[in-house]
Amino acid sequence: MQLQAIVTLLSLLGAANATPEHHIRLGKRQNAGAVVASSSSSSSSGAPTTSFTSATLTSNSPVPTTPVGTTIPPLVNITSGMATPSTVPLSATYSAGATPLISGAPVLPTPCKLSYRSASWPTQDQIAPTNSSEVSQWMEELDGFNIPDITPTVDGTCANDPAAAAQAASRGWWTCGGFTRVTDITACPSKLTWGVSFDDGPGFYSMELLDYLASKKLTSTFFVIGSRIVERPQVLVEEYMAGHEIAVHTWSHRPLTMLTTAQVVAELGWARKAIKDVIGVTPTLMRPPYGDIDDRVRAISLAMGMVPVIWTSTGTGATFDTNDWKVPGGVVTGPQSFATFESILTNATMLNTGFVVLEHDLYAQTVDLAIGYTLPAAMNFTPALTFDSIGHCNGIPSTNLYRESNTNTSFPYPNSTSGDSSVPSGSGGQGNSTKTSGALSDVIMPISMVVASLLAAGGSLLM
Ligand SMILES: *[C@@H]1O[C@H](CO)[C@@H](O)[C@H](O)[C@H]1NC(C)=O
Ligand SMILES: *[C@@H]1O[C@H](CO)[C@@H](O)[C@H](O)[C@H]1NC(C)=O
Ligand SMILES: *[C@@H]1O[C@H](CO)[C@@H](O)[C@H](O)[C@H]1NC(C)=O
Ligand SMILES: *[C@@H]1O[C@H](CO)[C@@H](O)[C@H](O)[C@H]1NC(C)=O
Ligand SMILES: *[C@@H]1O[C@H](CO)[C@@H](O)[C@H](O)[C@H]1NC(C)=O
Ligand SMILES: *[C@@H]1O[C@H](CO)[C@@H](O)[C@H](O)[C@H]1NC(C)=O
Repeated sequence: MQLQAIVTLLSLLGAANATPEHHIRLGKRQNAGAVVASSSSSSSSGAPTTSFTSATLTSNSPVPTTPVGTTIPPLVNITSGMATPSTVPLSATYSAGATPLISGAPVLPTPCKLSYRSASWPTQDQIAPTNSSEVSQWMEELDGFNIPDITPTVDGTCANDPAAAAQAASRGWWTCGGFTRVTDITACPSKLTWGVSFDDGPGFYSMELLDYLASKKLTSTFFVIGSRIVERPQVLVEEYMAGHEIAVHTWSHRPLTMLTTAQVVAELGWARKAIKDVIGVTPTLMRPPYGDIDDRVRAISLAMGMVPVIWTSTGTGATFDTNDWKVPGGVVTGPQSFATFESILTNATMLNTGFVVLEHDLYAQTVDLAIGYTLPAAMNFTPALTFDSIGHCNGIPSTNLYRESNTNTSFPYPNSTSGDSSVPSGSGGQGNSTKTSGALSDVIMPISMVVASLLAAGGSLLM
């Protein structure tokens, strides 16, 4: 059912690609890893669901004007079938031993070790297999840790697993009710501070975003996917060297609660290895795809030395998801995504803490939304916002963002997932093991999946 919806969307996109006016400019995009967003169109009870509240669709704000002097299209033109701009070239060739702009982060390795051969790596965008010697070795990282015996969910959605959803509180399942633990990072501690992040790259348009961030002196946390890193390792180098934080976002972008423990280890381990091979560091932060985490997945991540980072929920049932990832698939329009972002900023002013928002750098549409609309709107927002990367806003020294330079023996946290007060709460999370969002979360839970992308055309991009 879900897969069918995605296949349908893909064929629609394919049809759009075939029209002459889109053909030339879409040429490059066709080779990009295709993570196509879809959203649940029905629940298990058959009741129709939507991905956003009517409130987020009826913003009274004027439609922002098209950015002057850029190639960013008008907001209304940011749609699934839009022609996509040419990509920005890499800015520099970095030498082994080069020092990243972020202070204290390790220098680039010598030589770059990434040599992607499909025979020695998992197949792109497929759940990483568990029968390799690498995964056996990574499984040993779980020794001595208490990994809760929680049965994997059916598919990471609440609607398709009512039994697990009924146990969401005891499982600490974020997807169904927004349950967090004190070890989760879900915000920046300081009010009106936005911990900026982008997920799912490195993508074809990430360089454009990097140029923009540099021009505004902004730093971000990039949650990168292993299957994309092997396609565009140099873009990951640029992200790291420009002073952005790099964190793990799995190999194939599946909802982690549906996977076996060995599969979760494989998904985290292969993404971690791809990052290590390219920029020489092992991140201590990870983000579960779709925010889909429970106490088992948390414990695995912490045992492997990675602290989970989600995004902010307000406690009203909404999360700070711009839904930008649903624009390429045609589920949400550019103006709808931007209206959601405006409501996020409004809601952020009512929090006692800062906040984290879900945005993506994989698609032309999501990058155009970010650099043409959401980031400028946030920079012009009243009251004024402070912009930071997520580790930095949480007071985590940049050295501690990578295992190679981390000196803090209590970060990443020990394996407690109980949410009790013995666990440090300086993470910027809610500081409470509580339900932080309501009934909408099963609706918000995306069912998108990563579909196979083309390696062949990316060959020249490999190191
Ligand atoms: C925006 O879309 C309209 C209607 O499809 C089109 O006429 C116009 O050329 C587009 N503008 C840009 C800058 O893409
Ligand atoms: C892992 O299992 C797959 C499928 O059963 C098999 O094709 C592959 O050769 C196995 N790999 C190893 C390293 O055993
Ligand atoms: C993990 O938790 C279990 C049970 O609480 C405890 O026995 C074990 O010592 C812990 N391991 C570490 C490394 O903290
Ligand atoms: C913002 O808050 C309003 C009012 O509580 C809520 O209806 C809406 O869903 C929230 N939107 C987001 C994106 O947080
Ligand atoms: C080590 O990490 C813990 C948890 O984030 C933090 O509370 C503590 O302040 C850190 N210590 C140092 C010296 O940075
Ligand atoms: C934790 O929850 C309690 C009860 O709902 C609330 O009073 C308190 O403010 C919360 N603490 C934080 C840090 O959110």
